[in-house]
Amino acid sequence: MVLLISCLPRSSHLLRRAVIMRPLTLDVLNQQLQEVQYAVRGELAIKAELYREQLKSGSQSLPFDKVISSNIGNPQQKGLDQPPITFTRQVAALSEWPALAELAPGVFPPDVVARAKELYDEIGSIGAYSHSQGVPFIRKNVAKFISDRDGFPADPDNIFLTAGASAGVSLLINMLITDPSAGILIPIPQYPLYTAALAQHHGRAIPYYLDESRGWSTSVASIEAGLAQARKDGTSPKALVIINPGNPTGALLTRDTMADLVKLCEEHSLVLLADEVYQNNLHRAAEHPFTSFKKVVRELQSPIPLVSFHSISKGVSGECGRRGGYFELTNISAEVRALVYKLVSVGLCPPLSGQIGVDSMVRPPKEGEPSFALWKKETDTIHAALASRTQLMAARLNALPGVSCVESPGALYLFPKIDIPSKAVEAAVAAGKEPDAFYALALLDDTGICTVPGSGFGQKEGEWHYRLTCLCPGVEDYVGKLERFHLKFTEKWA
Ligand SMILES: Cc1ncc(COP(=O)(O)O)c(C=O)c1O
Repeated sequence: MVLLISCLPRSSHLLRRAVIMRPLTLDVLNQQLQEVQYAVRGELAIKAELYREQLKSGSQSLPFDKVISSNIGNPQQKGLDQPPITFTRQVAALSEWPALAELAPGVFPPDVVARAKELYDEIGSIGAYSHSQGVPFIRKNVAKFISDRDGFPADPDNIFLTAGASAGVSLLINMLITDPSAGILIPIPQYPLYTAALAQHHGRAIPYYLDESRGWSTSVASIEAGLAQARKDGTSPKALVIINPGNPTGALLTRDTMADLVKLCEEHSLVLLADEVYQNNLHRAAEHPFTSFKKVVRELQSPIPLVSFHSISKGVSGECGRRGGYFELTNISAEVRALVYKLVSVGLCPPLSGQIGVDSMVRPPKEGEPSFALWKKETDTIHAALASRTQLMAARLNALPGVSCVESPGALYLFPKIDIPSKAVEAAVAAGKEPDAFYALALLDDTGICTVPGSGFGQKEGEWHYRLTCLCPGVEDYVGKLERFHLKFTEKWA
C-alpha cells in the first residue's frame, strides 16, 4: 500500500512517497516449513541453553550445578571430553596457514608436513572455491578408501563431497520428491533429519517399524507393511532409507538382512539411501561388524540405485562443526549424475575445511609413519570409552524398574523404553506435552541432563522412550543422577 504524506515540508527531497510495508509474517512464507520438526535441537535443547546461561551468570537457584548435554551426538561439544584427533587438527592447521610449518620447526611431524604440502599442491589456498563436487584429489582418496573397505572399485566421479551428510541427504530427498504424493520409507524410530527434509520438500514419510524386542532389527516384513499402507494412502514410494548403524537405536544390520533389503528395493524399484555415518562406531565389532550396502549391492550384482552417505561428524573424528562428508552414487546413470552435479554447483562447493577433514578421515596415518602411534592411541581410547560407557549405562538402566534398554552395538546412543505412570501421562496431556517429553523435561529440570524424547524420533503408539548419548564424561555420576531421578519421578506419579 502506498500513501502520499501531505504534511511533509514541500522541499523536494523531503517530499517522499512513504511506503507502508506489509510486515514479514509467517502466513506469507512457505507454509510447508511450518511442518518441519527437529527434536534434537528442540524444546529441551533450548531450555538447557537457558539453564546454562543462568548457571554462567552465577545463579544458585537451580538444583544442579551443570547442564549435561546428552541430547546430541556432538562429541567435541564443550562439557564432553572427546578430544580432536591430533593428526586431523595438525593437517587442518597447516592447511589453514601453510607458513606455520616453517615458523614452528619441529612442532609438526614430518608426515603431517608432507600431507599438508601435498594437499596444498592439489588445492592451493583453502580460501578459494574448489570444484563443486569436491577437490578431485580428495575424491580419489575417498574412492580408494571405499574400494579398500569393500573390495570393489569406486569411481571418484561418483563421489560428491558435502557439508556434512545432512546436505547430501537433503539434496537427494529434494530430487526424489517429484510431487506431494511421493514418499520415502523411513525407519521408526528415525533420525529426524529425514522427516524434516521430507516436510521441507513436501514429501511424505512412509514409516516402517524397527523391532525393539529383537535388538531394534529391521525386517522386510515391516517394510512390506509400510509399502502396503502407502499404497492404501495413495502414496508413491520412491526410496528406502536405512540408517546403519542406527540412530537412535545403535543397531547393526546383518549381511543377510542387507541382502534381503537390496532384493526388496529391486522388487519395488526403490532407490536405497544408505546412511552409514556411524560405520566406524562399533562397540563389539567381532560380534557385530559393519558391512556397507555398496559391498552387498556389488556382491549381489544388483542394479538398484544406491546412494551411500558418510561424515566426519561421527566415528572417532567427531568433527561436527567442520561440516564434512560425502555421498557415493552406485548404479546411477551419467544423466542423473549430471543433474546432481548441476544442483551441487548452485552451492559452489562444500567447505574446504570439511573436505580436508574428509581426507584425514579416509587417509589416517599408516603403521610405520611418525603420526601413527599417537593416532592409534587416541582412536583406541575413544572407541574403548564409548564401548564401556554404552555397556555400563545400558546395564544400569536395565536394572531400573520400568526401564528396558537394548545395549547398542554401534553408533553413539542408547534409546531406553520407559514406563510412564498413568497419572504422569494424564498430567502430560493436560500440559499439552507428549508423556516422554514431559518425563525428559522433568529430568532436565531436576538434574540438568538434557536428552531427547522418543516422540522426536517416532515410536509405536503408547510406548515411551528417550535418547541419550554415550559421550558424557563422569558416567558414574551421570547415571546415578538418572537413576535417582527415575525413582523419584515414578514415586511421585505412582
Ligand atoms: C543418522 C545420521 N545421519 C546424518 C547425520 C548428519 O550428520 P552431519 O550432517 O553432521 O554429517 C546425523 C547426525 O547426527 C545422523 O545421526
